[in-house]
Amino acid sequence: MSKKINKTAMDAQEAEKRLDDLRGQITRHAHQYYVLDDPLISDGEYDRLFRELLELEEQFPELVTPDSPSLRVGGEPLDAFAEAAHDVPMLSLDNVFDAQELLSFEEKIQRYLQTTVQPTYLAEPKLDGLAVELIYENGLLIQGSTRGNGLVGENITAQLQTVQVIPLRLAAKEGKQEGAIPEKLAVRGEVFLPRKAFLQLNEQRAEQGEALFANPRNAAAGSLRQLDPKVTASRSLNFYVYGVADTEATPCADLEELFSWLGQLGFPVNPLIKFCRTLAEVEAQYQYLQTIRHELEYEIDGMVIKVADFALQQRLGNTTRAPRWATAWKFPATQATTVMTGVDFQVGRTGAITPVALLEPVEVEGVIVRRASLHNQDEIERKGLMIGDTVLIQRAGDVIPEIVKPITEQRTGEEQPLVFPSQCPICDAPLQRPEGEAITRCVSLLCPAQQLQRMIYFVGKAGLDIDGFGRKNVEQLMEVGLIQEIPDIFRLPKEQLAILDGWGEKSAEKLLLAIAEAKHPTLSRFIGALGIRYVGEMTSELLTRHFSSLDDLLAAKKDDLLAVEASVSRRQ
Ligand code: IVH
Repeated sequence: MSKKINKTAMDAQEAEKRLDDLRGQITRHAHQYYVLDDPLISDGEYDRLFRELLELEEQFPELVTPDSPSLRVGGEPLDAFAEAAHDVPMLSLDNVFDAQELLSFEEKIQRYLQTTVQPTYLAEPKLDGLAVELIYENGLLIQGSTRGNGLVGENITAQLQTVQVIPLRLAAKEGKQEGAIPEKLAVRGEVFLPRKAFLQLNEQRAEQGEALFANPRNAAAGSLRQLDPKVTASRSLNFYVYGVADTEATPCADLEELFSWLGQLGFPVNPLIKFCRTLAEVEAQYQYLQTIRHELEYEIDGMVIKVADFALQQRLGNTTRAPRWATAWKFPATQATTVMTGVDFQVGRTGAITPVALLEPVEVEGVIVRRASLHNQDEIERKGLMIGDTVLIQRAGDVIPEIVKPITEQRTGEEQPLVFPSQCPICDAPLQRPEGEAITRCVSLLCPAQQLQRMIYFVGKAGLDIDGFGRKNVEQLMEVGLIQEIPDIFRLPKEQLAILDGWGEKSAEKLLLAIAEAKHPTLSRFIGALGIRYVGEMTSELLTRHFSSLDDLLAAKKDDLLAVEASVSRRQ
């Protein structure tokens, strides 16, 4: 469906028309995909439109508009962030810690308003990300900034333009009064990194020997405060709107109307926002969010409760720190203390050595924690950990528990230094840590630990996803020598499998069937399954688009690899 661009034939007038058409289509399809989660065209078609836009804009740079979706890929790096003042200060929130304090919050409001009438509230998930302000003039995004000290933040417009769900131009509802676009509108909301993107990012950083982000919040902040907007563009950041600087700039009388209006203008509104008539409803919503928080695709650390009515908000006003009409109710702390009894040094698929703390079992949020990630050698040194230390640990959602710090006041003198090994704990090969990298590796190609991990990866979810072929099976089959390298998987003898401990005729047959079913993966999946360092899902896909067969790829020289184009695909 994309029109072939004929460089000589298309004049500026034609190009302008085509560009306008492309921008309209791309903006609409990106909204369908990212905000409504309801794509109308395939990724391939979208990519083609996007590529045509980029090529045409390159040919006619004077026709680039300030709301072009091409801004999503990120422009030139900045030297430094400029300051951005907030006309209306970006305040903080006060806290309540239990239902009793929630009641006091309401009583205080009633005293202030000299009434016994109960206000209605909006209960919103408290997103664990970064607050930003987006300023629109005549519908066009002209500035985006961080909160900073509340009065002055950093100008991160180019970075925020790369966040797919943030509208570059507001959508007007023609003919509708409430759909009219104000001359100036400052909206506020939270930029956050979904859990999955966070885990992927850290995995990628571990492979490249870079320091890991401690949690999605830090990762979101680190991704936004990047001088190079292209880096921000690669990070799958997301955004939910939660308010405006000045409610008088809107046609709305309360928060319920506001969210509906903001949604019409094209902003993503969190579907978990709930209108509550009583404190009992507020409390029920808090309990509900607490039970589902770990199933959400992003992290929340509590709930924000806001008086819905703008006239009441006005009368209540703010203290210097926070509005009187809102409060945060955080979820209980997810930290605990325990003793670190030892450290296990694990060898990963790519030879990376990951230190894992062994803990005296302790319960955090209903889950027994026995191990915690120590990330790498620098982290251990930075935290100054010793074996036998009493440590503060925390668990954030699905993220592996981690050690925050040792409680040095509780040292007895019996603690032992934590020594990072110089040889592979499995194969004894000397470990290497390249200059400037955070990761220490076993670089022996024959290391059995790496072979095991590679095999587990190959048959697992990220690899061929062979049904019922889990870590335990791989360990057993390698131990008895039935598989040593990847091709062995495809010539497993049924009779020998069936007589293994815990196996039988039926289970052997079942596994062999699952293997047979997974035997013809796409080239991209196969390349990815090999678990080669630096070759993740995205790279495998790009390689496959470039080299049509495995033989071509195997024959590729350095220059051929350099010619592989980075894609503008949305699935980054
Ligand atoms: S309203 C004037 N709503 O929490 C009140 N804040 O502790 C403005 N946050 O800086 C905040 N989710 O970054 C509001 N649904 C939500 C929120 C939310 C997260 C953050 C925000 C703010 C911080 C205050």
